[in-house]
Parts: sequence; C-alpha cells; structure tokens
Amino acid sequence: MVRKFPEGFLWGGATAANQYEGGWNEGGKGISVSDCARHHLDVDVQDYKAHNSITTKDIEDALKSTDDSLYPKRHASDGYHHYKEDIKMYAEMGFKVYRMSIAWTRIFPNGDDKEPNEEGLKFYDDVFDECLKYGIEPLVTMSHYEPPINLVLNYDGWASREVIDMFVRYVEVICERYKNKVKYWLTFNEVDSMIRHPYTTGGLVEDRFPGRNFQEVIFQAMHHQFVASALATKICHEKIPGSKVGCMLTKLTYYPYTCKPEDVLQAQQDMRSTYCYSDTQVFGEYPAYLLAKFKNEGIHIKMEEGDLDIMKQYPVDFVSFSYYSSSCVAKNADGLKTTAANTMIAIKNPHIPSSDWGWQIDPIGLRISLVDLYDRYRKPLFIVENGLGAKDELVNGTVDDQYRIDYFDAHFREMLNAIEIDGVDLMGYTSWGCIDIVSESTKQMSKRYGFIYVDCDDEGNGTYKRYKKKSFDWYKHVIETNGACL
Ligand code: BG6
Repeated sequence: MVRKFPEGFLWGGATAANQYEGGWNEGGKGISVSDCARHHLDVDVQDYKAHNSITTKDIEDALKSTDDSLYPKRHASDGYHHYKEDIKMYAEMGFKVYRMSIAWTRIFPNGDDKEPNEEGLKFYDDVFDECLKYGIEPLVTMSHYEPPINLVLNYDGWASREVIDMFVRYVEVICERYKNKVKYWLTFNEVDSMIRHPYTTGGLVEDRFPGRNFQEVIFQAMHHQFVASALATKICHEKIPGSKVGCMLTKLTYYPYTCKPEDVLQAQQDMRSTYCYSDTQVFGEYPAYLLAKFKNEGIHIKMEEGDLDIMKQYPVDFVSFSYYSSSCVAKNADGLKTTAANTMIAIKNPHIPSSDWGWQIDPIGLRISLVDLYDRYRKPLFIVENGLGAKDELVNGTVDDQYRIDYFDAHFREMLNAIEIDGVDLMGYTSWGCIDIVSESTKQMSKRYGFIYVDCDDEGNGTYKRYKKKSFDWYKHVIETNGACL
C-alpha cells in the first residue's frame, strides 16, 4: 500500500530574520543582540561556550565596529534584498508554509520606542504578500534571538519586568497589522534555550548582574517570557479569530547509555529538564518538579499577582519543536566519548552516525520524540526545524547533496510511521534553513542546511547568488506526491 501524509499536511521550510535577512542597518531597523554576535572562526566548532560567551565589552566593541565581516548576522543571506526570488523558489518546490520570524528591531528599533517603524511594517507586508501570492501560509515566530540591544544595555534584558509590556505592545502592533495575512504564530523560539545561550534568547549578559545568582536571573527572565507568551496568545486569539499559536521547544532526546537503572534515571531527569518549559506553556502552570528545583537550588522568582492566572488562561494551541539529533546520558560519564549536539555536548551514541559538526543522526529518535510529545500533550504537533548542517561544495552551479536527501528521506519515513502506526497528529514540517543561512551556534555560513545554496562565505564575501542543490528537486517531488514517493 502506498503511504502518504494526511491531506493538507503543511510542507515547507524555515528561517529566522537574524540568520537570514541581513540588512541590519537598513529600513530604519535598530540593532539586535544578534547583530553584535561575532564569529570565532579559529575556535573548535564544538566549543559552544566560547562561541556564545559575550561580555558588555564585546557588545561595546561590536557597536563601534564597522567591520561587518566579523558579525555574520549583519549580512546573513541578504534575504532583505533577495526575499522575492527566494519565495519564488519556495513556491517552485511547492511549499505550503514558510516559517520565518519578524525582527522586533524592524518594528520597534529600540524595543521601548513610542511608535512603530512604518518602513519595517511595510517590509513584512511585502514579504507576506509575496508568500500569499503563491498560496504559501506564513508561520511567524515573534521572537527568534532578536531582542533589541537597547534592552540589554538600558534594561536588564528579559530579566526586566518592563520588557513584558514592550513585547506586548510589539505583539499588538504586528497582530493588528497582519491580521488578514498571518494565521499561524509561534511566540518564543526555543524558549528553553535561555539556559544554554542567555544572551541571544533573553538579552542577558552575566557581567551585568554582579553578585546575583545568574541561574536565578535566567529563570526570572524565562518567567517573564512565559507571561509574555500567554499574553501574546491572548492578543492573537482576540485580534485574529481562528489563529493558532504554538510554543516552540528544543526537542533534545536523551537515551540512557546503558540499562543500568542509574543511567535510565539520569536520562529521565534530563528529559524532564527539557520538558519543563513546554509543560509550562502547554498546561499553563509550572510543573511540580520545576518548582522543586527552584526550592532546592534557592532560586526565587518574583511573580506579580495575576501572572499564574494569565499563564493558566492562555496556553498554546499546538506544540512546535526543533529536532536534529538524539544524545546519550549516563550517571557516570567518566571515560565515555562525547560529541556535539544542539548547543550542548553529550555522550556519543556508538550505534548511529554523526554530521560534519558531530550532531548524531537519528531518524528513529524523531519518531520517539513525536510519540513522547503527543502522548504527553495530546495537542497537534508541528516540526518547525529539522535538517542536516553540512559542508556543501558548489560544482558547475549545483551541489550534489545526496547526504541531505538521505537524511530527509529517513526522517520523513519515521514521521509517516509516527502518524500511521502511532496515531500522532502532525500538522506539518518545515525544514530548517530551507535556504542557506548563518548558523546560530557557530555563526558560520559554511554550515549549510538549505535546498538552495547561497554564494557567500563565513566572512560575507560572495555574490549572494542562489543555486538549486540536488535536494531541491527531490523535496519538490516529496511535496508534489505528499510523501507517496518515499
Ligand atoms: C535551533 C535554532 O536551535 O537550531 C536555530 O532555533 C539554529 O536558530 C538551529 O540555527 C540549528 O543550529 P545551528 O547552530 O546549526 O545553526
């Protein structure tokens, strides 16, 4: 029997403004945290700490620097000037949906501005119109590593309560403006990532909180994002009847390294420390084990009256997530080989291969993740990030990326298994970096995920011309046949 994805399955691709758009100082845009994140090309790609650590001095240097080659997100893939041809290529592949983010700093350049920037609003009007012209639904992330730098320097980033109001104002403006164009929304990209890179997610720089427990600062900021996310859901529902709002979590999937009960327990504990954030956004309340962690570790979160009610009243409609790889966990990791995963280092699984960046390739892990999430939440799921970051070589105007086709093919088959055998309700799939974009963790352009190659190197040199890779036609055929060709 030929297997297919459900009718109306939302196939597409995903990018984020900070990694795709560039045009960092055009159209009235303000400076975001990502515009100040420099690359460290001489540092081991697995040393995430070094790639993501930042001080106030680094930001000051960035603000003075006119050398954009050091700050890859300032040019990114130059989507700001190329979006029309890019969307045309997505349409050619048959995309039903395009996940993208709005750069907060295009709308409110400093976050605390009185009035929005009309040029920024107009830019996204044009982007959405371009999508809709081809029948592509925009799926919009409201915040994807794009807090205005002003919030870092003149407030305490998301640790400031006031930032909730600024974000709410931004959400009111975009929901009002795009109410006839955008139906699918995500509030915060990988809300949990604040733990791993507090600067890009929450605008938090450790040296700005002397004498404070930085973990507490992070959780305070996260609390503010939970409240802001619930309020954003409320605004969306009120302004756009029928709109759907999702949370977005990093689906880190942990296996016990052995069947020793200690290792199994450790894996369970680590899984819970990932789920606790989506639990909060789906169930609308902090799970008991997160509250226990706060208590045991002396973390005190300031909550205002009404916060918990707001969170309870406006949970998300669906659960979206990123999935790239699985990892192993052991109670005692001494002597075990480690490897990189999504902004973390984990114990290496000897049974599965790894990407050029050490991320382990595990399609069955995607099925396991889908089942776990659906059993836990019973809400529709949406895979909004997945893909293979690889070193691609452009030869005669194309890239022979059979390795990427193999990666997708295996993952799509497991998605079908999850839908057909496990009964998972999966709304859609957007591959990450459907066009090459700058990597988040290492800020390299040479870590490529796309079906479309962008001629630009790690320092921003190149023509920025677009080329179809071999996977372009392959993905087009998958969408055309709704997976029947797999
Ligand atoms: C996700 C982020 O965690 O992983 C993206 O939401 C990021 O912004 C993606 O780009 C892949 O990670 P990287 O480091 O390969 O770009």
